This record gives sequence, structure tokens and C-alpha cells, in this order.
Amino acid sequence: MYTLTSLTKTYKTARGPVTPLKDVDLRIEDGEFIAIQGPTGGGKSTLLQMLGALDRPTTGSIHLAGDDLSTLGERRRAKARAERIGFVFQGFNLLPTMTAGENVETALVPLGIPAAERRSRARTALAQVGLDDRIDHRPSELSGGQQQRVAIARALVKNPTVILADEPTGNLDEDTRDDVLALLEGLWRDQGLTMIIVTHDSAVAKRAPRRLHLGGGGITEIGDK
Ligand SMILES: Nc1ncnc2c1ncn2[C@@H]1O[C@H](COP(=O)(O)OP(=O)(O)O)[C@@H](O)[C@H]1O
Ligand SMILES: [Mg+2]
Repeated sequence: MYTLTSLTKTYKTARGPVTPLKDVDLRIEDGEFIAIQGPTGGGKSTLLQMLGALDRPTTGSIHLAGDDLSTLGERRRAKARAERIGFVFQGFNLLPTMTAGENVETALVPLGIPAAERRSRARTALAQVGLDDRIDHRPSELSGGQQQRVAIARALVKNPTVILADEPTGNLDEDTRDDVLALLEGLWRDQGLTMIIVTHDSAVAKRAPRRLHLGGGGITEIGDK
């Protein structure tokens, strides 16, 4: 799935360069479920941006199923994101003026899918997360857990090969956290997706067969619990 070789990311800031990722080597196989832990500022979100083709490394390479995302032009990176990568964020990132169904459909717009098919695929994706009866509700009419489910449906609707989730349960209470986690786990198990979750929460991380620690520029495997 992914091969990262000597991947380094340096941000230039007013107070000098910051290098959250330094010479990172990592292989991620198809169908893995990985949790990434580490201190705030350790580079977790930066790594997800690399994996999600949202940003490019400063040096080194990152291959996604044969494509080198570090040299691919913006158009082809945008295509990779639109077709293959589903994103889930801590703050849900739903558009407040749109209904749940319209929010889910936004993921299909860059793919040029006609409106009627978008609507039916959005309905199917919302059914997968147990919210088909909320298709016409706006985010403000949904609980936090329901909003995150809509965001998960938006990630799923494109039939991605990988889901990247940055603190997906960070804004949820414990019960809702467990529901959302069970949903993600079920999707991973049933659909053969590759799932990569950044989390501060050890209860979340413990569910993943593989755990990585990121901090001080480097990445290490966390052994069996
Ligand atoms: N766009 C950016 N410009 C400058 N510095 C950044 C940018 N994004 C992240 N950083 C810096 O890189 C480091 C890692 O950030 P981040 O990847 O967000 O860590 P984490 O998600 O583990 O908390 C931090 O020191 C942060 O301030
Ligand atoms: Mg972060």
C-alpha cells in the first residue's frame, strides 16, 4: 500500500525550520489497521497529510500503490485523494449549511458523478453508518457522534482503499467514542480497507493490531500490549 523511504518534512517558520518527520522509513500493507500515538507536536498530523497526498515531503519518497506522491503533480495528487483516500477529522469538518446527504455527496463531486447517482450513493453510505433516516438533517440537528458518522459516510462513499482518521474520537464522550470506534473497526474488517488512526486515547489505540509511536522526528513500533 504505502512505502515511505527516508521521508523528511521540514516547515519553514518565522522562528526557523521545524522538522517533525526526519528520515522516516515505513511500510504499510494493504488492509492493515494502524494506530499512531505520540506527543502533541510529534508530527502525527503531518504524517497523515503525507499519507493523504495533501502535502509533499521535503525530501525522500512516499509511494502509494506504485505512485510516488512526492513527485506527482498537484492534479494527480488531487485525483489520488478524490478516488482512493477517505479522511475523517476530529472536528468532523461538515459544512453547516448542507444536509447530511449533501455533505456526503461533496466527496463525489470531484469524481464527476451525476447528481442522481451521487444521491443514491450518499444514501447507501449513510445506511452503512446507520443514519439513512437523517439524510435531510443539517449537522446542527445531529449529535457529535452522528456528525462523525456522517463524516465517515463521506469518507466511505468514494469506495476508498484507505481511511485516514486524525483523532476521530477526540471530541466525543466515552460511549460515543466506543460506538464510532466499533463502526470504524467493522468497516475495516468487512471491507478490506486500510485504516490509519491517529489517537491520544490508549483505549482506541489498543484496538489496532499495529501501533506506531511518533515523536522526536522518528517513528517506532509499539510492542504487544
Ligand atoms: N503548516 C505548518 N507550518 C509550520 N509548522 C507546522 C505546520 N504544521 C505543523 N507544524 C509544526 O510541525 C510540528 C508537528 O505538528 P503536527 O504534525 O501537527 O503534530 P501532531 O499532530 O503530532 O500534534 C509542530 O511543531 C507544528 O508546530
Ligand atoms: Mg495533530
